[in-house]
Amino acid sequence: MRLKDKVAIVTGGASGIGRASAVRFAEEGSKVVVADLQQDGIDETVDAIRSAGGTATGVHADVTSASDVKAVVKTAVDTYGRLDIMFNNAGIGIPGTILDLDEGDFDRLFAVNVKGVFLGCKEAVPVMKAQGGGVILNTASQLGVVGIAGNVVYPATKGAVVQMTRCLAIDHAADGIRVNSLCPGPIDTPLTRRNRQASGDPEAALRSRLTQIPLGRIGEAVEMANVAVFLCSDEASFVTGAAILADGGWVAR
Ligand SMILES: NC(=O)c1ccc[n+]([C@@H]2O[C@H](COP(=O)([O-])OP(=O)(O)OC[C@H]3O[C@@H](n4cnc5c(N)ncnc54)[C@H](O)[C@@H]3O)[C@@H](O)[C@H]2O)c1
Repeated sequence: MRLKDKVAIVTGGASGIGRASAVRFAEEGSKVVVADLQQDGIDETVDAIRSAGGTATGVHADVTSASDVKAVVKTAVDTYGRLDIMFNNAGIGIPGTILDLDEGDFDRLFAVNVKGVFLGCKEAVPVMKAQGGGVILNTASQLGVVGIAGNVVYPATKGAVVQMTRCLAIDHAADGIRVNSLCPGPIDTPLTRRNRQASGDPEAALRSRLTQIPLGRIGEAVEMANVAVFLCSDEASFVTGAAILADGGWVAR
């Protein structure tokens, strides 16, 4: 019970890494607010937590909307009395070269992946500061740290998340707020399955990915959730401003 009696928000909690994290947080004793755009997925995550004996509430929210994000944080405070963990995890991927992507793709990627994190932090920090501390975890990517062919904007959004995280950590260390980014490598989620399908040859796309991963496999969402539990727990009390890679060794090559 490493998150016993904590209150956590997980954005993007209807699917993939967010769902696995919401479930793991609840298993570790946290009450969880699951925020996402997909109502069916929210309900499935909340049901999974409740049927295992945990405590969770769902909120339909778009992380690009300041008023939605404000409402998510208000739900946590109104329902459970505080906010200990803000996991800004919602994100989208639109791969492509500069020739493939248009202005709308750029704006959408930055709105969800960067502005969404900004708004989550903006709402969480005052609550955490007033209560004497908290933990913020922002999902970046190994592609926030290294480059890749054929994908120019998504990695730029994740680099922005890594940098925003570092600066927030410096600003709010004295408030008792730790802020880290989680940098997953390729993880088996609906996002990566969609990307592989969109490549036109999913088998070749998978083979090509595997050559880049020393561990020789795609990761599982629960493996990211386990890292998130650690980073959000008191066991990580001296970890802040860090970009934590959990990438099967991708960046080590
Ligand atoms: N899967 C990977 O290989 C991988 C690798 C590195 C980083 N990431 C990052 O991990 C995070 C989670 O990705 P995933 O693989 O679990 O993807 P996913 O598609 O399974 O889940 C993402 C969730 O975010 C939600 N979402 C998207 N836009 C939203 C918005 N505007 N408001 C609220 N919710 C929104 C989606 O509805 C979905 O439920 C993302 O930030 C992604 O960039 C994933």
